[in-house]
Amino acid sequence: MGFVKVADTSELTSGSKKKIFVGDKVILLSNVDGSYYAISDKCPHMGGSLGEGVLKDGIITCPKHGAKFDVKTGKAVGEAKMLLLKIKVKDSAVFPLKIEGSDIFVEID
Ligand code: FES
Repeated sequence: MGFVKVADTSELTSGSKKKIFVGDKVILLSNVDGSYYAISDKCPHMGGSLGEGVLKDGIITCPKHGAKFDVKTGKAVGEAKMLLLKIKVKDSAVFPLKIEGSDIFVEID
């Protein structure tokens, strides 16, 4: 697919996030301190929607079991918690992103 326009920068103020649908992908778009990032919306643990989690200081927390991901890198920075277990999770997929004017593009393969 290549780069696809997914949003306008005016839709995402600093510290905010947006869940977007492109083809068969669901992507979590975030603005951290004025820079934009795109990772998969699907939690690598059990498929929770990261776009429905809480974004704070560039870290998104999965609403299902609390795993945490750095939205800049997709790196898992906190385990999932189920009952008394802490479960290590994989990193999230990251999508290349570019800005042209006020248009945000994400590269989809
Ligand atoms: S589905 Fe995300 S932490 Fe379990």
